[in-house]
Amino acid sequence: QRVWQDLIAVADLEKGDVTPVSLGARELAVYDGVEGITVSHARCTHGAANLCDGYFDGRRIECPLHQGLFDARTGAVLAAPARLPLRMVEARVQDGMVQVRL
Ligand code: FES
Repeated sequence: QRVWQDLIAVADLEKGDVTPVSLGARELAVYDGVEGITVSHARCTHGAANLCDGYFDGRRIECPLHQGLFDARTGAVLAAPARLPLRMVEARVQDGMVQVRL
């Protein structure tokens, strides 16, 4: 059964940016976007880069290694060389906490 787990307090997020958070062995990326908070796996789907080191403009996350571009809400690929969508994680905000369901 998949349960909601606390990930990080909203107050602890990098305002308007992407924040790296570990959950067990998982490396996640939390985006404080202009349309709300979303969460993905932190690793790029193209190679061994951590997207938390990339550039987030409030909507799109750019990979720091080859500049692949993803929509941080849907995970959709917006620019090559990335081809596979970003793996998003189901997320919500509850009582000031970002929660995820894996
Ligand atoms: Fe991210 Fe290549 S590792 S675009």
